[in-house]
Amino acid sequence: MKLIEYRYYVLIIFIIIFSQSCEPSAPKMESVDTVENSDYYKEQYRNQYHFSPEANWMNDPNGMVFLDGEYHLFYQYYPDSTVWGPMHWAHAVSEDLVHWEHLPIAIYPDSLGYIFSGSAVIDHDNTAGFGHDAMIAIYTYHDIEGERSGTSNTFQYQAIAYSLDKGRTFTKYEGNPVIPNPGIKDFRDPKVIWDEGNSQWVLVLAAYDKAIFYTSPDLKAWTMVSEFGIEGDTRLWECPDLFPIKVKDSKEIKWVLVTSIQKEGPNGGTATSYFVGDWDGKKFIGDASQQQWLDYGTDNYAAVSWANSPSPSDEIPMIGWMSNWQYAQVVPSEEWRSAMTIARTISLHKEGDKYSLRSMPVEQMDKLVGKSYAISPKAYSTTGVISKESLNGQARIDLKLSLSGANNIMFKLSNDKGEFTLFGYDIDSKQYFIDRTKAGKSDFSSEFAMKHTAQIDYVSSEIEMIVYLDHASIEMFADQGRTVMTDVVFPTEPYTKLEIIPSEGSVEILKGSNISELKGVW
Ligand code: FRU
Repeated sequence: MKLIEYRYYVLIIFIIIFSQSCEPSAPKMESVDTVENSDYYKEQYRNQYHFSPEANWMNDPNGMVFLDGEYHLFYQYYPDSTVWGPMHWAHAVSEDLVHWEHLPIAIYPDSLGYIFSGSAVIDHDNTAGFGHDAMIAIYTYHDIEGERSGTSNTFQYQAIAYSLDKGRTFTKYEGNPVIPNPGIKDFRDPKVIWDEGNSQWVLVLAAYDKAIFYTSPDLKAWTMVSEFGIEGDTRLWECPDLFPIKVKDSKEIKWVLVTSIQKEGPNGGTATSYFVGDWDGKKFIGDASQQQWLDYGTDNYAAVSWANSPSPSDEIPMIGWMSNWQYAQVVPSEEWRSAMTIARTISLHKEGDKYSLRSMPVEQMDKLVGKSYAISPKAYSTTGVISKESLNGQARIDLKLSLSGANNIMFKLSNDKGEFTLFGYDIDSKQYFIDRTKAGKSDFSSEFAMKHTAQIDYVSSEIEMIVYLDHASIEMFADQGRTVMTDVVFPTEPYTKLEIIPSEGSVEILKGSNISELKGVW
């Protein structure tokens, strides 16, 4: 916000000086353009259509809730450094999940601790007594002194704060904490939803290697009702989410329990997973052996849904933190660290007996599409340049491909410095992949320069990939969102070329494939 204010301040002074020193017919619009084209959000590695903080450290999205035409995005933020530190909830709002306005920090740490991840709800019926339609944030306090003293495990507990001015300012509840620590070291990240069928609030939090559920009539008094976990799991669970969702093309409602896992994601490090089941008012009833991944890339963590969203009951908007704790604190952006994924619409599909989520970019992303260039349908048996004009570090690439005749479909995004990212589909192994081994800067972590794969379990004779390229990320949505891979990359210059590289046989690009320019949002 400060930077934005400064920008407008400079703009006003500039317009005043300019209008005084020029003839009345001077082209005032030009002066506006000059300021608009300033260096704001133009640093190396700065994504142009993803949310990122103006400066300093960001991790998980928090408190996502819709109210009066605004989607709120709070997030874990440390305003004094580009590495993790005392956590605050910073704040941004959007009317379309694509264009964001930065607002001042919403919740500051205090004597009870740092403000860790959590959620927000709209209390339509004033159950908590803070006011009708109060926005109530439910978050974890992390008592850093308690942790450092090493004498007990009880330094994380849950608290609430309310806002009567649409999230601009919050008042912390004087009765905090509302859920004291029962003796569990990792006890955090409460996600609260209104359980319509049982007229109660439900809270799910991560307790080391499982989720614990609580219910409440008023957001203040909570009763623990159940747990859900995988027998013998030794991985740390974080940032759970719970929501009902209507199965696509049916009347059936299922419940989805999302949980982020701090190690051993499908391609290493941190990743977001989910279970599909039912909710009986007290228990999540699901098969713990059926853990699925929301995203097979390495960079979609702590993904959670928007509460109170106006979207249909079979489409849930979600966003995740586009990084991985393996290297998040050492990635080469200098003034800020990390971005969010693009916002996605999640839907649930049933095939045979299996329920799986699909993720696609929110429809509103189409607003960013500029010129589109059709890729001529053609069979390629040798390397071919598909595009040089339409890419400038950011683009949407829509590919429809026939699987007959080749065993590996590979595309290469590259720059003039010889840096490149490969992506595609390996027919023999039935794996999508993104290979960022030579993507650009990678010396900051030995775990970064790797090929990531996503095994698929469905059959198809054609494949479809929608790839969103930004200056420091690639998001691949394959087969209408059935397989998703999100990877950050750090090319030292933007990628400007797309090539197709068939191996052993030919690859047929089908009608409907194209490359589109994408506008930035900053
Ligand atoms: C996940 C996480 C949460 C915690 C927050 C602290 O990335 O570790 O479990 O609340 O980050 O910033």
